[in-house]
Amino acid sequence: MSDIAEVQSFTVTFIIRRFNPETDTEPYWQDFDVQMYSTDRVLDALHKIKWDVDGTLSFRRSCAHGICGSDAMRINGRNRLACKTLIKDLDISKPVYVEAIKGLPLEKDLIVDMEPFFAAYREINPFLQTSAKPEKEHIQSPEQRARFDDTTKCILCAACTTSCPVFWTDGQYFGPAAIVNAHRFIFDSRDEEAQVRLDILNSKEGVWRCRTTFNCSEACPRGIEVTKAIAEVKQAVLRGVR
Ligand code: SF4
Ligand code: FES
Repeated sequence: MSDIAEVQSFTVTFIIRRFNPETDTEPYWQDFDVQMYSTDRVLDALHKIKWDVDGTLSFRRSCAHGICGSDAMRINGRNRLACKTLIKDLDISKPVYVEAIKGLPLEKDLIVDMEPFFAAYREINPFLQTSAKPEKEHIQSPEQRARFDDTTKCILCAACTTSCPVFWTDGQYFGPAAIVNAHRFIFDSRDEEAQVRLDILNSKEGVWRCRTTFNCSEACPRGIEVTKAIAEVKQAVLRGVR
């Protein structure tokens, strides 16, 4: 007798929002019944559909382990990573709805154009800026490092920005992810250009558009306290960094 415990299998209905720009004028919902195991994730379901049922289903993914940030999508109305969403954690007595993240131009099925998201990211200068040229490493105390530890965890998945109602209605807003990545350098003791980033985020597209709805913190698959980071940047705009 095998000592490997039998993994339970069951049928799950996925309802996926499809769109092919070459043939469709509007997106539409399509059902798929998929045989799944309790250890599977939503990404496994998308693979089964693509590989065994409909090879035209389009979505992004790379690492499959919550690191690359490429498979953010709306699963049952919430922004999540498909590779980190276990089937056993969903209510499979009902269909599971899967659609592209909102607020960015839809390209095909679950794929959106990420360029506006990355354009906002680039605008906040997401790299260390310093004139110091130490002979060895840039020295930083554990306390100084802790100041921005949370925001170093960002994987640029866009789950936060595309869960934000201000971003949905106002494409001009930088969005939470750009502010999180600005925070990561604004509060880095080695960086000398915090004020430049604060001036950028004090603009009409910047932090003051945030309405503190907390959608971003709830959506973040890395558990980053996004709303707190935005609040800290607002404080720094008003009172300076340190
Ligand atoms: S802050 Fe979180 S949700 Fe936003 S882009 Fe970074 S990892 Fe994704
Ligand atoms: S596939 Fe890389 S985070 Fe999900």
